[in-house]
Amino acid sequence: MRVTRELAEQLGMTESSRRAVSSGVVYQIYPRSFRDTSGDGVGDLPGIAAGVAHLERLGVDGVWLSPIHPSPMADFGYDVADYTDVDPLFGTLADLDRLVAELGERDISLLLDWVPNHTSDRHAWFEASRSSRDDPRRDWYVWRDPAPDGGPPNNWTRHFADEPAWTFDEHTGQYYLHLFLPQQPDLNWANEGVRDAMVGVLRFWLERGVAGFRADVVHLIGKDAALADDPPERIGVPRAGFHDEEITHTYLGQIRDVLDEYEATMVGEVNLPDAARVVRYVGDDRLPMAFYFGLLYAPWERDTWRDVLAYAYTHFDGADAWPVWALGNHDTPRQVTRYGSLARARAAAVVLLTLRGTPFLYAGEELGLADAEVPEDRVVDPGGRDGCRAPIPWDASPTRGWPTADPWLPWPPDTDDHNVAAQEADPDSTLHLYRRLIAARRDSSALALGWFELLDGTADVLSYRRWLDGDERHVHVNFSDEPRDIAAPAGTVVVSTERHREGAPFTGHLGTTEALVVRPTP
Ligand code: GLC
Repeated sequence: MRVTRELAEQLGMTESSRRAVSSGVVYQIYPRSFRDTSGDGVGDLPGIAAGVAHLERLGVDGVWLSPIHPSPMADFGYDVADYTDVDPLFGTLADLDRLVAELGERDISLLLDWVPNHTSDRHAWFEASRSSRDDPRRDWYVWRDPAPDGGPPNNWTRHFADEPAWTFDEHTGQYYLHLFLPQQPDLNWANEGVRDAMVGVLRFWLERGVAGFRADVVHLIGKDAALADDPPERIGVPRAGFHDEEITHTYLGQIRDVLDEYEATMVGEVNLPDAARVVRYVGDDRLPMAFYFGLLYAPWERDTWRDVLAYAYTHFDGADAWPVWALGNHDTPRQVTRYGSLARARAAAVVLLTLRGTPFLYAGEELGLADAEVPEDRVVDPGGRDGCRAPIPWDASPTRGWPTADPWLPWPPDTDDHNVAAQEADPDSTLHLYRRLIAARRDSSALALGWFELLDGTADVLSYRRWLDGDERHVHVNFSDEPRDIAAPAGTVVVSTERHREGAPFTGHLGTTEALVVRPTP
């Protein structure tokens, strides 16, 4: 739903919220796995352009692409070697321009992934930085002398392994900091040159017509100059999961000024467990929006979901901040795999698409895909995330609509039913459920913009209402694997995981793992 300045004013929305809401429902594409046209078994930009009709029919408003820049691929693109170009594996800048145009024709905006915390160790900036202590780029990264015993300068732990966040550079006799792989050195945002260079990167893409960015682990960019040791209870815990420095908000203010010049948006990956900390990254002088991963990490338990939602809205609504929700991404096992059944994943989708806040979908969840089983000799990711990154099957043919039957990762399970063409042909499919939910969200100001309130519900059933002005919807989700009857206001079923119930009166009965949206009788 597009929110004009006038409507935003009427609703008392902050500019940040307006910008966030305007991005509607966003669809994340992992470019290596969406669709291949070149025949090398790796997805590419022309492949994404070829899949645009699927996105249009799904009804999404925005697309976020995981990194497409030149990269040695130590972390599959999250190790960027050049921020202002496209890796030949994915295509060319001209392909990207074409994609922006193709999406634009369908009123779908494009968000790129911006990786501000670290570069590749093969980026020209780092190659210069490590060349000598006197190089002008030395201070663009975080270099420190060894501890007195010759070991790392502090006790921080990197991500993906219980190892120090530091690597010693023989040539210059110092350690450099990397909160992720040694091939991903952290930039030093305290250096003005780094900040200016990164602003230049944003401008480069905004000038080409992208609508904004997803900012990778953006809570990590500010570093306290002392780089003090972590307390003993945190030794061995990756720093990236709790690092949270005040100075980051100052840097984000500078970023926000640039975004505002272009009316662009940005969603921060703020990977902190406490919603109270995450909301601090959102505001008119900070980010327009930030992910909150409370539900992504929640097991399939009604009470946990209720608690996460209650706590999140206390903080987001309290700070006038608009949340961003996701149940899947390229870092996390897929919903079907996590919850143990397709029925639960479908019920979860009803929640995702009816919450107050911008929902992000991860390509393939609309097909009900489970994680691929990846045999040991085909494992490629240092973070163990290959399963959810399996290629998207487009049809049931031996090559699943790709030019090769043997892409870079094995196919997900059950591709006979779980492919775009098969789901398209079956009105009861997960694809059609997602389409109906997105359409229902678009048709209802209560769902798109309205307030959220938990309803009492019965044990095993999560119930809430959304409302705005005269429009109202109720959502009921049966977390149990048995039917349930609840005392709830009567109404008409708008969308259900059981399609045959749509349009019928709602009387309080929920089938096994059923989730539905009800328009209450006025
Ligand atoms: C983010 C990305 C993840 C990547 C990491 C380092 O968490 O989503 O894929 O490995 O940052 O860039």
